[in-house]
Amino acid sequence: VTSICLPDAEARDCVGTLPGGIDVVIWDGASDPVPGLDGVEVLVPPYMRPPTSAEALKALASLRLVQLLSAGVDSWLKRLPPGVVLCNGRGVHGGSTAELAVGGIVSSLRELPRHLDAQRAHRWDQHSGVTGLDGRRVLLLGAGDIGTRVAASLTPLGAEVTLVARHARDGVRALTELSGLLPEHQVVVIAVPYTTETHQLVDADFLASMPDGALLVNVARGAIVNTNALLAELTSERLHAFLDVTDPEPLPVDHPLWVAPHLQLTPHIGGGTLGWQQRAYRLVREQVIRFHRGEPLQNVVKVADGY
Ligand SMILES: NC(=O)c1ccc[n+]([C@@H]2O[C@H](COP(=O)([O-])OP(=O)(O)OC[C@H]3O[C@@H](n4cnc5c(N)ncnc54)[C@H](OP(=O)(O)O)[C@@H]3O)[C@@H](O)[C@H]2O)c1
Repeated sequence: VTSICLPDAEARDCVGTLPGGIDVVIWDGASDPVPGLDGVEVLVPPYMRPPTSAEALKALASLRLVQLLSAGVDSWLKRLPPGVVLCNGRGVHGGSTAELAVGGIVSSLRELPRHLDAQRAHRWDQHSGVTGLDGRRVLLLGAGDIGTRVAASLTPLGAEVTLVARHARDGVRALTELSGLLPEHQVVVIAVPYTTETHQLVDADFLASMPDGALLVNVARGAIVNTNALLAELTSERLHAFLDVTDPEPLPVDHPLWVAPHLQLTPHIGGGTLGWQQRAYRLVREQVIRFHRGEPLQNVVKVADGY
């Protein structure tokens, strides 16, 4: 028998009927331990919550796999007990997060906030002075699930996309080429995991390499961008930004980012569209069955690489 732990009754419903030999325990990782935790081999923690505490994890004496519902694994890496495999939710939120990135690019380039202001003031602010996506050069930093989806969405609208990743390959440029590429792109989308390598990757030098009037989009993790360096570029009105993620999160009420010029901000909603549970628990179901049958798992995180 394989015993798995799901965070709540809704998760149990979404997973559906499981093959015989798989038992389910419901526990959210934060409340008091429930009976049966000591036999749990697969833990599925709740989405968008801090990782289960090291103390609480001690109750899971048989743990072999942690299956996350998020693509990001940064908060779990230090928490993972030795010998336990970590799998992420890559693919679950990529479509909705790419969609938000594309929406942010379009909104910024086509000045949608300006038109919403005009609409609210009953003002017919007709003009044709903005540059859209046609002919824009867009750099995708990260050529994984999100990066490739954004690239595939922008190309039919006339954008020229450049993908950059850790491992160069056909159609994907190497990270070592980044500094030479930045001055040639009017839009930069951050779609990399938060790792020791990407911590503050977008610093003052990175931003200074972007051309005047360029747009930075971050839908990955807030701390990949140096907030103060970005604030300086926004305040001087040299760069524009669209952020779904910030450092810190949640953003304190008096944080200067709220009022920074040329910035649109959403509160880390990229992955959270209706239906995410169905997508996530379809993956969980597949993984649990693979684990139970001893088959290779999907989305195994390379702990040494941090993603
Ligand atoms: N806003 C939200 O709600 C939301 C939703 C989903 C995900 N996210 C965040 O977005 C991140 C990316 O998601 P994903 O599903 O696209 O991940 P993914 O499929 O694993 O792709 C990650 C990409 O980043 C590249 N990469 C890793 N380290 C790099 C580095 N140091 N420099 C340059 N490129 C690097 C990888 O390169 P290789 O291809 O060479 O390995 C890969 O192309 C997640 O880790 C998560 O933190 C946010």
